[in-house]
Amino acid sequence: MKIVLLGPPGAGKGTQAKSISNRYSIPHISTGDIFRKNISENTPLGIEARKYMDNGQLVPDEVTINMVKDRLQQEDCKNGYLLDGFPRTVHQAEALQAFLESRDEQLDTALLIEVPMNFILERMTGRRVCPSCGASYHIKFNPTKNDGKCDVCGSDIIQRKDDTEETVKERLDVYERQTQPLIDFYKERNMLSVVDGTKAINEVFESICKILGSGR
Ligand code: AP5
Ligand code: MG
Ligand code: ZN
Repeated sequence: MKIVLLGPPGAGKGTQAKSISNRYSIPHISTGDIFRKNISENTPLGIEARKYMDNGQLVPDEVTINMVKDRLQQEDCKNGYLLDGFPRTVHQAEALQAFLESRDEQLDTALLIEVPMNFILERMTGRRVCPSCGASYHIKFNPTKNDGKCDVCGSDIIQRKDDTEETVKERLDVYERQTQPLIDFYKERNMLSVVDGTKAINEVFESICKILGSGR
């Protein structure tokens, strides 16, 4: 199964991706997570990406597209994958389509987690993440079981540097201008499915499973 997750920052893409990846045994590929890993390891890619991420801007398309194409050609993607945070511009979406067509493949669906803007700020500013395994928590909606420690791997959870109110507003603006057009891009190709992301985390997951079915 090949899936693209769409939705504004804070919609719950990362949260749902973990569960989808487990249920359907496909790798969860988050471009944001890959960039953050490179930043923490101080690689050339990380140094480049940081210039944009800290201000809520998108990393340039060429950098991002090449990185994703490399990732999709790895062995674990043979039976499908779940893309979280990519594509994020029409140019990226076209590049993904071209990549798939060159391999005679196609996406199963682009799944939009729909959440109105007035929900987003509270979700983002209350988010805490695990720097080791990428798990995402929320101080109110999804707290860790052990105070401040990741449920999955036990690491100390942290707040993302771009989850301040000011940067969140910039990211939302970037989303509206550059990423929202992808909803029509996939709608026009009859590939869009939509779930209501304002429901509780487990209810959103149930709706997603209904759409994805038993998987292939
Ligand atoms: P990225 O890491 O992709 O960030 P994002 O799109 O801004 O999305 P988030 O991770 O903030 O939100 P999410 O939808 O994953 O929500 P989550 O599940 O954590 O990108 C970061 C940066 O990297 C970009 O700004 C850009 O610079 C760069 N980048 C990445 N990809 C790129 C690309 N393709 N091209 C160019 N640049 C790129 O949930 C949010 C919070 O809400 C959590 O606290 C969670 O616990 C809580 N929550 C989740 N679901 C629910 C629910 N149903 N009810 C209540 N609370 C919930
Ligand atoms: Mg995320
Ligand atoms: Zn962890």
